[in-house]
Amino acid sequence: MIYLDNAATSFPKPEPVYRELQDYLRRDGANPGRAGHQWAMRVEKTMDDTRNLLARFFGMDDHRRVIFGLNGTDSLNMAIKGVLRPGDHVVTSLLEHNSVSRPLKQLEADGSIRLTQLPFSREGFVDPEDFRRALTSRTRLVVLLHASNVLGTLQPVAEVGRICRRQEALFLVDAAQTAGVVPIDMQAMQIDLLAFPGHKALFGPPGIGVLLVGHRVEPLPWREGGTGFDSEDPLQPRRFPHLLEGGTPNTLGVAALRAGLRFVTGEGLERIRGHEQRLLARLTESLKDNPKVCLYGSTDPHRRVGSLALNREGYTSSEVGAILDNSFEIAVRPGLHCAPYLHRHLGTAPEGVVRISPGYFNTEDDIDRCISALEQL
Ligand SMILES: Cc1ncc(COP(=O)(O)O)c(C=O)c1O
Repeated sequence: MIYLDNAATSFPKPEPVYRELQDYLRRDGANPGRAGHQWAMRVEKTMDDTRNLLARFFGMDDHRRVIFGLNGTDSLNMAIKGVLRPGDHVVTSLLEHNSVSRPLKQLEADGSIRLTQLPFSREGFVDPEDFRRALTSRTRLVVLLHASNVLGTLQPVAEVGRICRRQEALFLVDAAQTAGVVPIDMQAMQIDLLAFPGHKALFGPPGIGVLLVGHRVEPLPWREGGTGFDSEDPLQPRRFPHLLEGGTPNTLGVAALRAGLRFVTGEGLERIRGHEQRLLARLTESLKDNPKVCLYGSTDPHRRVGSLALNREGYTSSEVGAILDNSFEIAVRPGLHCAPYLHRHLGTAPEGVVRISPGYFNTEDDIDRCISALEQL
Protein backbone atom coordinates (compact mmCIF):
# COMPACT_ATOMS: atom_id res chain seq x y z
CA MET A 1 0.00 0.00 0.00
CA ILE A 2 1.28 3.50 -0.83
CA TYR A 3 0.27 6.04 1.80
CA LEU A 4 -0.36 9.52 0.34
CA ASP A 5 -2.58 10.91 3.12
CA ASN A 6 0.03 12.63 5.27
CA ALA A 7 -2.04 15.82 5.55
CA ALA A 8 -4.46 13.77 7.71
CA THR A 9 -1.70 12.21 9.81
CA SER A 10 1.87 11.19 9.09
CA PHE A 11 2.68 7.56 8.40
CA PRO A 12 5.02 5.85 9.01
CA LYS A 13 6.67 7.48 12.03
CA PRO A 14 10.47 7.61 12.39
CA GLU A 15 11.95 4.57 14.19
CA PRO A 16 12.91 6.54 17.38
CA VAL A 17 9.20 7.41 17.83
CA TYR A 18 8.19 3.71 17.78
CA ARG A 19 11.05 2.90 20.17
CA GLU A 20 10.03 5.68 22.57
CA LEU A 21 6.37 4.54 22.61
CA GLN A 22 7.46 1.06 23.58
CA ASP A 23 10.16 2.05 26.06
CA TYR A 24 8.24 4.87 27.71
CA LEU A 25 5.33 2.72 28.87
CA ARG A 26 7.72 0.14 30.30
CA ARG A 27 10.15 2.64 31.81
CA ASP A 28 8.31 5.82 32.80
CA GLY A 29 4.58 5.12 33.10
CA ALA A 30 4.03 7.25 36.26
CA ASN A 31 1.96 10.42 36.58
CA PRO A 32 4.12 13.56 36.39
CA GLY A 33 5.38 15.63 39.32
CA ARG A 34 2.29 15.36 41.44
CA ALA A 35 3.24 12.61 43.89
CA GLY A 36 6.70 14.03 44.24
CA HIS A 37 8.43 10.63 44.10
CA GLN A 38 11.46 10.15 41.88
CA TRP A 39 9.53 8.38 39.18
CA ALA A 40 6.97 11.16 38.96
CA MET A 41 9.75 13.74 38.82
CA ARG A 42 11.35 11.92 35.90
CA VAL A 43 8.10 12.11 33.94
CA GLU A 44 7.71 15.79 34.88
CA LYS A 45 11.20 16.33 33.48
CA THR A 46 10.21 14.71 30.17
CA MET A 47 7.23 17.07 29.96
CA ASP A 48 9.38 20.11 30.78
CA ASP A 49 12.09 19.06 28.40
CA THR A 50 9.53 18.71 25.58
CA ARG A 51 8.04 22.09 26.45
CA ASN A 52 11.54 23.61 26.25
CA LEU A 53 12.29 22.00 22.88
CA LEU A 54 8.95 23.16 21.44
CA ALA A 55 9.36 26.70 22.81
CA ARG A 56 12.81 26.99 21.21
CA PHE A 57 11.63 25.47 17.93
CA PHE A 58 8.76 27.95 17.56
CA GLY A 59 10.46 31.13 18.83
CA MET A 60 8.71 31.33 22.21
CA ASP A 61 10.60 32.54 25.29
CA ASP A 62 8.63 30.86 28.10
CA HIS A 63 8.33 27.07 28.10
CA ARG A 64 5.62 27.14 30.79
CA ARG A 65 3.28 28.61 28.18
CA VAL A 66 3.57 25.46 26.05
CA ILE A 67 0.32 23.56 26.68
CA PHE A 68 -0.38 19.93 25.82
CA GLY A 69 -3.84 18.87 24.62
CA LEU A 70 -5.48 16.06 22.69
CA ASN A 71 -5.02 17.13 19.04
CA GLY A 72 -5.17 20.21 16.81
CA THR A 73 -8.90 20.63 17.41
CA ASP A 74 -8.46 20.63 21.19
CA SER A 75 -5.67 23.25 21.02
CA LEU A 76 -7.75 25.50 18.75
CA ASN A 77 -10.84 25.20 20.98
CA MET A 78 -8.71 25.97 24.04
CA ALA A 79 -7.49 29.15 22.36
CA ILE A 80 -10.82 30.28 20.86
CA LYS A 81 -12.97 29.59 23.94
CA GLY A 82 -10.24 30.79 26.28
CA VAL A 83 -9.98 34.31 24.85
CA LEU A 84 -13.39 35.22 23.42
CA ARG A 85 -15.92 37.16 25.49
CA PRO A 86 -19.51 38.17 24.68
CA GLY A 87 -19.65 41.09 22.25
CA ASP A 88 -16.27 40.34 20.62
CA HIS A 89 -15.67 40.54 16.88
CA VAL A 90 -13.62 37.77 15.23
CA VAL A 91 -12.01 37.80 11.78
CA THR A 92 -11.13 34.57 10.01
CA SER A 93 -11.06 33.15 6.45
CA LEU A 94 -13.08 30.82 4.24
CA LEU A 95 -10.03 28.53 4.07
CA GLU A 96 -10.39 27.33 7.67
CA HIS A 97 -10.84 23.78 8.89
CA ASN A 98 -14.01 22.90 10.85
CA SER A 99 -11.94 22.83 14.04
CA VAL A 100 -11.86 26.64 13.71
CA SER A 101 -15.08 27.42 11.85
CA ARG A 102 -17.38 25.20 13.95
CA PRO A 103 -16.52 26.70 17.36
CA LEU A 104 -16.69 30.19 15.84
CA LYS A 105 -20.00 29.50 14.07
CA GLN A 106 -21.45 28.11 17.33
CA LEU A 107 -20.42 31.22 19.26
CA GLU A 108 -21.96 33.34 16.48
CA ALA A 109 -25.18 31.27 16.53
CA ASP A 110 -25.36 31.72 20.33
CA GLY A 111 -25.28 35.48 19.76
CA SER A 112 -22.00 35.73 21.66
CA ILE A 113 -19.67 37.02 18.92
CA ARG A 114 -19.77 38.72 15.52
CA LEU A 115 -17.87 36.80 12.84
CA THR A 116 -16.27 37.93 9.56
CA GLN A 117 -15.05 35.21 7.15
CA LEU A 118 -12.75 36.64 4.49
CA PRO A 119 -12.50 35.14 0.99
CA PHE A 120 -9.39 33.89 -0.82
CA SER A 121 -8.10 34.22 -4.38
CA ARG A 122 -8.46 31.66 -7.17
CA GLU A 123 -4.85 30.69 -6.44
CA GLY A 124 -5.74 29.93 -2.81
CA PHE A 125 -4.39 32.93 -0.86
CA VAL A 126 -6.00 35.46 1.48
CA ASP A 127 -5.17 39.14 0.99
CA PRO A 128 -3.69 40.92 4.07
CA GLU A 129 -5.36 44.11 2.84
CA ASP A 130 -8.78 42.43 3.44
CA PHE A 131 -7.74 41.81 7.05
CA ARG A 132 -6.65 45.42 7.48
CA ARG A 133 -10.06 46.60 6.27
CA ALA A 134 -12.05 44.06 8.34
CA LEU A 135 -10.45 44.74 11.75
CA THR A 136 -12.31 47.14 14.06
CA SER A 137 -11.81 48.30 17.64
CA ARG A 138 -14.10 45.41 18.71
CA THR A 139 -11.96 42.74 17.02
CA ARG A 140 -10.47 40.65 19.81
CA LEU A 141 -9.23 37.72 17.72
CA VAL A 142 -8.02 36.94 14.20
CA VAL A 143 -7.76 33.23 13.28
CA LEU A 144 -5.89 32.09 10.18
CA LEU A 145 -4.38 28.79 9.09
CA HIS A 146 -0.73 28.83 8.06
CA ALA A 147 -1.33 26.50 5.10
CA SER A 148 -4.58 25.20 3.63
CA ASN A 149 -5.19 21.52 4.36
CA VAL A 150 -6.84 21.20 0.93
CA LEU A 151 -4.83 23.42 -1.45
CA GLY A 152 -1.54 23.38 0.48
CA THR A 153 -1.19 27.13 -0.09
CA LEU A 154 0.89 29.09 2.46
CA GLN A 155 -0.84 32.16 3.84
CA PRO A 156 0.78 35.58 4.52
CA VAL A 157 0.90 35.03 8.27
CA ALA A 158 3.65 37.55 9.08
CA GLU A 159 1.79 40.35 7.23
CA VAL A 160 -1.49 39.54 8.98
CA GLY A 161 0.42 39.34 12.32
CA ARG A 162 1.71 42.89 11.77
CA ILE A 163 -1.81 44.16 11.07
CA CYS A 164 -3.21 42.45 14.21
CA ARG A 165 -0.50 43.95 16.43
CA ARG A 166 -1.16 47.43 15.07
CA GLN A 167 -4.89 47.05 15.78
CA GLU A 168 -4.30 45.38 19.16
CA ALA A 169 -6.16 42.22 18.15
CA LEU A 170 -4.90 38.78 19.22
CA PHE A 171 -3.63 36.52 16.44
CA LEU A 172 -4.24 32.74 16.51
CA VAL A 173 -2.47 30.67 13.84
CA ASP A 174 -3.53 27.12 12.99
CA ALA A 175 -0.24 25.48 12.02
CA ALA A 176 -1.68 21.97 11.54
CA GLN A 177 -0.16 21.66 8.06
CA THR A 178 3.13 23.48 8.64
CA ALA A 179 4.51 22.66 12.12
CA GLY A 180 7.49 20.43 11.35
CA VAL A 181 7.78 21.48 7.68
CA VAL A 182 7.95 25.30 7.49
CA PRO A 183 9.93 27.50 9.94
CA ILE A 184 7.66 29.36 12.39
CA ASP A 185 8.89 32.07 14.75
CA MET A 186 6.07 33.32 16.97
CA GLN A 187 7.88 36.50 17.94
CA ALA A 188 9.06 37.44 14.46
CA MET A 189 5.65 36.64 12.94
CA GLN A 190 3.78 38.39 15.80
CA ILE A 191 1.69 35.32 16.57
CA ASP A 192 -0.07 35.33 19.96
CA LEU A 193 -1.43 31.79 19.92
CA LEU A 194 0.00 28.91 17.90
CA ALA A 195 -2.01 25.66 17.70
CA PHE A 196 -1.03 22.40 16.02
CA PRO A 197 -1.44 18.63 16.34
CA GLY A 198 1.59 16.55 17.28
CA HIS A 199 0.60 13.66 14.99
CA LYS A 200 1.24 15.20 11.57
CA ALA A 201 4.66 16.51 10.42
CA LEU A 202 6.10 16.46 13.96
CA PHE A 203 5.66 12.66 13.85
CA GLY A 204 4.05 12.19 17.29
CA PRO A 205 1.28 9.60 17.77
CA PRO A 206 -2.47 10.38 17.59
CA GLY A 207 -3.82 11.95 20.79
CA ILE A 208 -1.35 14.79 21.25
CA GLY A 209 -1.81 18.46 20.37
CA VAL A 210 0.00 21.64 21.39
CA LEU A 211 -0.98 25.25 22.08
CA LEU A 212 1.66 27.95 22.58
CA VAL A 213 0.29 30.96 24.45
CA GLY A 214 2.06 34.30 24.00
CA HIS A 215 2.51 36.90 26.74
CA ARG A 216 -0.30 39.15 25.53
CA VAL A 217 -2.86 36.39 26.19
CA GLU A 218 -4.45 35.53 29.54
CA PRO A 219 -6.99 32.87 28.56
CA LEU A 220 -9.63 31.26 30.75
CA PRO A 221 -9.52 27.47 31.03
CA TRP A 222 -12.30 25.49 29.36
CA ARG A 223 -11.24 22.27 31.13
CA GLU A 224 -10.79 22.47 34.90
CA GLY A 225 -9.57 19.80 37.32
CA GLY A 226 -6.63 18.35 39.18
CA THR A 227 -3.12 19.65 38.51
CA GLY A 228 -1.17 18.16 41.42
CA PHE A 229 -0.45 21.72 42.68
CA ASP A 230 -2.40 24.24 44.76
CA SER A 231 -5.00 21.59 45.59
CA GLU A 232 -6.65 23.78 48.21
CA ASP A 233 -7.48 26.46 45.66
CA PRO A 234 -11.20 26.15 44.83
CA LEU A 235 -10.47 27.46 41.32
CA GLN A 236 -8.07 26.36 38.59
CA PRO A 237 -4.54 27.62 39.45
CA ARG A 238 -3.69 30.75 37.44
CA ARG A 239 -0.12 29.79 36.62
CA PHE A 240 0.94 28.21 33.35
CA PRO A 241 0.87 25.44 32.23
CA HIS A 242 -1.54 24.21 34.95
CA LEU A 243 -4.15 26.85 34.08
CA LEU A 244 -4.93 24.99 30.85
CA GLU A 245 -3.88 21.43 31.69
CA GLY A 246 -6.39 19.96 34.17
CA GLY A 247 -6.28 16.15 34.44
CA THR A 248 -3.69 13.46 33.70
CA PRO A 249 -1.80 14.50 30.57
CA ASN A 250 -0.97 12.22 27.65
CA THR A 251 2.57 11.65 28.88
CA LEU A 252 3.13 8.82 26.41
CA GLY A 253 2.17 11.15 23.55
CA VAL A 254 4.45 13.90 24.90
CA ALA A 255 7.44 11.54 25.17
CA ALA A 256 6.88 10.27 21.61
CA LEU A 257 6.36 13.81 20.32
CA ARG A 258 9.75 14.71 21.79
CA ALA A 259 11.29 11.85 19.81
CA GLY A 260 9.49 13.11 16.68
CA LEU A 261 10.67 16.67 17.23
CA ARG A 262 14.25 15.49 17.75
CA PHE A 263 14.01 13.61 14.47
CA VAL A 264 12.75 16.74 12.68
CA THR A 265 15.49 18.94 14.12
CA GLY A 266 18.08 16.27 13.30
CA GLU A 267 16.99 16.08 9.65
CA GLY A 268 16.43 19.86 9.40
CA LEU A 269 13.36 21.68 8.06
CA GLU A 270 15.13 22.61 4.83
CA ARG A 271 15.73 19.00 3.93
CA ILE A 272 12.22 17.87 4.96
CA ARG A 273 10.53 20.67 3.03
CA GLY A 274 12.85 20.19 0.05
CA HIS A 275 11.93 16.51 -0.20
CA GLU A 276 8.19 17.21 -0.08
CA GLN A 277 8.57 20.00 -2.64
CA ARG A 278 10.43 17.70 -5.05
CA LEU A 279 7.73 15.02 -4.77
CA LEU A 280 4.99 17.57 -5.25
CA ALA A 281 6.75 19.17 -8.23
CA ARG A 282 7.06 15.72 -9.87
CA LEU A 283 3.35 15.11 -9.37
CA THR A 284 2.30 18.58 -10.54
CA GLU A 285 4.57 18.61 -13.61
CA SER A 286 3.20 15.34 -14.91
CA LEU A 287 -0.45 16.20 -14.28
CA LYS A 288 -0.68 19.86 -15.17
CA ASP A 289 -0.92 19.35 -18.95
CA ASN A 290 -3.27 16.38 -18.71
CA PRO A 291 -6.59 17.69 -20.15
CA LYS A 292 -8.54 15.19 -18.03
CA VAL A 293 -7.08 16.44 -14.74
CA CYS A 294 -8.06 19.72 -13.07
CA LEU A 295 -5.57 21.00 -10.45
CA TYR A 296 -6.65 23.53 -7.80
CA GLY A 297 -4.63 26.34 -6.21
CA SER A 298 -1.19 27.75 -6.94
CA THR A 299 1.42 25.32 -8.25
CA ASP A 300 4.34 27.55 -7.18
CA PRO A 301 6.40 25.24 -4.88
CA HIS A 302 7.64 28.18 -2.78
CA ARG A 303 4.10 29.19 -1.85
CA ARG A 304 2.75 25.81 -0.82
CA VAL A 305 3.29 22.71 1.30
CA GLY A 306 2.89 19.06 0.43
CA SER A 307 -0.69 18.47 -0.64
CA LEU A 308 -2.20 18.63 -4.11
CA ALA A 309 -5.93 18.98 -4.80
CA LEU A 310 -7.35 17.71 -8.10
CA ASN A 311 -10.35 16.28 -9.89
CA ARG A 312 -10.39 13.80 -12.76
CA GLU A 313 -12.85 14.32 -15.62
CA GLY A 314 -15.64 11.74 -15.67
CA TYR A 315 -15.25 10.68 -12.03
CA THR A 316 -16.34 12.02 -8.67
CA SER A 317 -13.59 12.51 -6.10
CA SER A 318 -14.90 9.59 -4.04
CA GLU A 319 -14.81 7.33 -7.11
CA VAL A 320 -11.18 8.30 -7.77
CA GLY A 321 -10.35 7.67 -4.09
CA ALA A 322 -12.05 4.27 -4.10
CA ILE A 323 -10.42 3.15 -7.39
CA LEU A 324 -6.94 4.23 -6.26
CA ASP A 325 -7.53 2.38 -2.99
CA ASN A 326 -9.07 -0.83 -4.30
CA SER A 327 -7.36 -1.28 -7.67
CA PHE A 328 -3.98 0.39 -7.11
CA GLU A 329 -3.40 0.14 -3.33
CA ILE A 330 -2.87 3.90 -3.05
CA ALA A 331 -4.34 5.80 -0.07
CA VAL A 332 -5.46 9.38 -0.85
CA ARG A 333 -8.26 11.50 0.64
CA PRO A 334 -11.36 12.47 -1.41
CA GLY A 335 -14.18 14.76 -0.23
CA LEU A 336 -14.40 18.05 1.64
CA HIS A 337 -11.49 17.62 4.09
CA CYS A 338 -13.48 19.34 6.88
CA ALA A 339 -13.29 22.62 4.93
CA PRO A 340 -16.85 23.22 3.61
CA TYR A 341 -16.49 27.02 3.17
CA LEU A 342 -13.35 26.54 1.08
CA HIS A 343 -15.13 24.14 -1.27
CA ARG A 344 -18.19 26.37 -1.61
CA HIS A 345 -15.94 29.32 -2.49
CA LEU A 346 -13.85 27.22 -4.89
CA GLY A 347 -16.96 25.76 -6.57
CA THR A 348 -16.03 22.17 -5.67
CA ALA A 349 -18.85 21.54 -3.12
CA PRO A 350 -20.54 19.21 -2.38
CA GLU A 351 -18.38 16.49 -3.94
CA GLY A 352 -15.01 18.04 -3.10
CA VAL A 353 -11.63 17.09 -4.55
CA VAL A 354 -9.02 14.36 -4.35
CA ARG A 355 -6.18 15.34 -2.01
CA ILE A 356 -2.80 13.73 -2.57
CA SER A 357 -0.40 14.46 0.29
CA PRO A 358 3.06 12.87 0.21
CA GLY A 359 5.23 12.94 3.32
CA TYR A 360 8.89 12.70 4.23
CA PHE A 361 8.97 8.91 3.88
CA ASN A 362 7.43 8.75 0.39
CA THR A 363 9.70 8.11 -2.59
CA GLU A 364 9.72 9.23 -6.23
CA ASP A 365 8.62 5.71 -7.11
CA ASP A 366 5.46 6.17 -4.96
CA ILE A 367 4.68 9.34 -6.89
CA ASP A 368 5.31 7.69 -10.27
CA ARG A 369 2.94 4.87 -9.36
CA CYS A 370 0.27 7.39 -8.38
CA ILE A 371 0.75 9.30 -11.68
CA SER A 372 0.51 6.08 -13.64
CA ALA A 373 -2.67 5.05 -11.77
CA LEU A 374 -4.30 8.39 -12.53
CA GLU A 375 -3.41 7.98 -16.21
CA GLN A 376 -4.80 4.43 -16.35
CA LEU A 377 -8.01 5.35 -14.54
C1 LIG B 1 -5.72 22.95 8.90
C2 LIG B 1 -6.15 22.00 9.99
N1 LIG B 1 -6.55 22.49 11.16
C3 LIG B 1 -6.92 21.70 12.18
C4 LIG B 1 -6.93 20.33 12.04
C5 LIG B 1 -7.39 19.49 13.19
O1 LIG B 1 -6.38 18.68 13.70
P1 LIG B 1 -6.75 17.35 14.50
O2 LIG B 1 -7.29 16.38 13.50
O3 LIG B 1 -5.45 16.92 15.10
O4 LIG B 1 -7.75 17.70 15.52
C6 LIG B 1 -6.52 19.76 10.83
C7 LIG B 1 -6.54 18.30 10.63
O5 LIG B 1 -6.48 17.79 9.56
C8 LIG B 1 -6.11 20.62 9.78
O6 LIG B 1 -5.70 20.14 8.61
